[in-house]
Amino acid sequence: MEKVIEENKQGTSLVLEQNDQNTKKLFIESYGCQMNFSDSEIVASILSEQGYNTTQNLEEADLVLVNTCSIRDKAEQTVRKRLEQYNAIKKINPSMKVGVLGCMAERLKSKFLEEEKIVDMVVGPDAYKDIPNLLKEVEEGRDAINVILSKEETYGDISPVRLNSNGVTAFVSITRGCDNMCTFCVVPFTRGRERSRDPQSIMSEIKDLYEKGFKEVTLLGQNVDSYLWYGGGLKKDFEKATKMQKATAVDFAQLLDMCAGAYPKMRFRFSTSNPQDMHDEVLYVMAKHHNICKYIHLPVQSGSTRILHEMNRQHTREEYMALVDRIYKILPEISLSQDMITGFPTETEEDHKDTLSLMEYVKYDFGYMFAYSERPGTLAARKMKDDVPETIKKRRLQEIVDLQQKLGLERTQRFLGQTVEVLIEKQSKRSDAHWSGRNSQNTMVVFPKENYKVGDFVLVKVTDCTSATLIGEAVGYSEMN
Ligand code: SAH
Ligand code: F3S
Repeated sequence: MEKVIEENKQGTSLVLEQNDQNTKKLFIESYGCQMNFSDSEIVASILSEQGYNTTQNLEEADLVLVNTCSIRDKAEQTVRKRLEQYNAIKKINPSMKVGVLGCMAERLKSKFLEEEKIVDMVVGPDAYKDIPNLLKEVEEGRDAINVILSKEETYGDISPVRLNSNGVTAFVSITRGCDNMCTFCVVPFTRGRERSRDPQSIMSEIKDLYEKGFKEVTLLGQNVDSYLWYGGGLKKDFEKATKMQKATAVDFAQLLDMCAGAYPKMRFRFSTSNPQDMHDEVLYVMAKHHNICKYIHLPVQSGSTRILHEMNRQHTREEYMALVDRIYKILPEISLSQDMITGFPTETEEDHKDTLSLMEYVKYDFGYMFAYSERPGTLAARKMKDDVPETIKKRRLQEIVDLQQKLGLERTQRFLGQTVEVLIEKQSKRSDAHWSGRNSQNTMVVFPKENYKVGDFVLVKVTDCTSATLIGEAVGYSEMN
């Protein structure tokens, strides 16, 4: 593999890994969650063995792959529009092949080949190793589809090709699938049952990143706190494991402790934490290691216990608040963020007020807020009427977005006058004289470049801020450097 530095549209340099023996061109793009972006790096690695190097230029591609998201209807519409654009290019270049990967592939299966005439290949999230065979079928003029979900697949043996990388931060997936069956969510249907990846393969991927000069790793999973390695197999089958397997099992707190201890000069983040599985051991491990970032993404979806119950979330409002209290007690420096859904079936004004008051209580630094979108096949779609009018969903969404904006600003202001540790990731979007990076709490920080460079850990004195960005001046290297 050879490192190639390219400029992207924003003028930021990208590090691409290319094999100079490869002659075919792959254009791959990803929509949706971080896991999809990480999966695309696995797919690029599998295809690199098949003679494909990635390209940023759609027109010159032999193979176009789109890694898709089904989480809300809008996400699917975006992909459909994109497919129309590929179609226009395919008319000029008919030998170009198009494949759909990820959650939409899994949800729509062969319907894709019937509805979207331009799609040559449909591959679900657990079938990427079959892509070389599927490509042969495409070449022979057959429809190629594999949407089988697996009990074991974690792609632990594949070393991802880093795409659009800044050479500093990377994702490493540690679990796949989800067993939670939140009633609104399509993920358990599209990504299958929960399974964890062998810690040895996780550690060797991190070692490789470290040796390549990466400085920050985000451990990924639909529910990372539920990580449990006992020699392979589904999480739900842990009960059936042998005594030996149980005794030597590795949980998330242990995995995090191992990573942070082995690589003290790298930063570690993780996402996503489901409140029901977030235990105090993880908080203590976070407190123990400076290099585990003091940030937890802790989706709650609603502040109303009644709605949480309807959503099949496994905790009440009060239990969530008690967890937040413990987090602030053990980790006073922490930043928290939420995911919230407005207008879930039967949501009343009272329930909505509970959401607003919970937000005030927690004081989230950031938030990702959505209007409920009914997903075919989910329990909510089958059992509940999508009965909150669109206008009310939108109004409630606006109210929580406005409140989050206010809370975010208050939280960001707490850093004024402080010195924060920043990992430089790239040039600031607004100014080529400034670097941008994040502090441990995940807040963006911009400051004049001076002689610092991408990948440096720098101490920055904060002098000003906007609602989501800190502005300051570097005062020296940090000890992480
Ligand atoms: N555990 C996952 C959650 C994936 S879905 C993770 O790793 O982040 C991301 C977010 O999308 C959810 O937390 C939820 O807030 C939102 N979401 C999921 N299904 C939705 C739906 N049907 N309508 C609106 N928002 C939804
Ligand atoms: Fe979806 Fe709930 Fe799992 S939101 S990904 S079913 S934790």
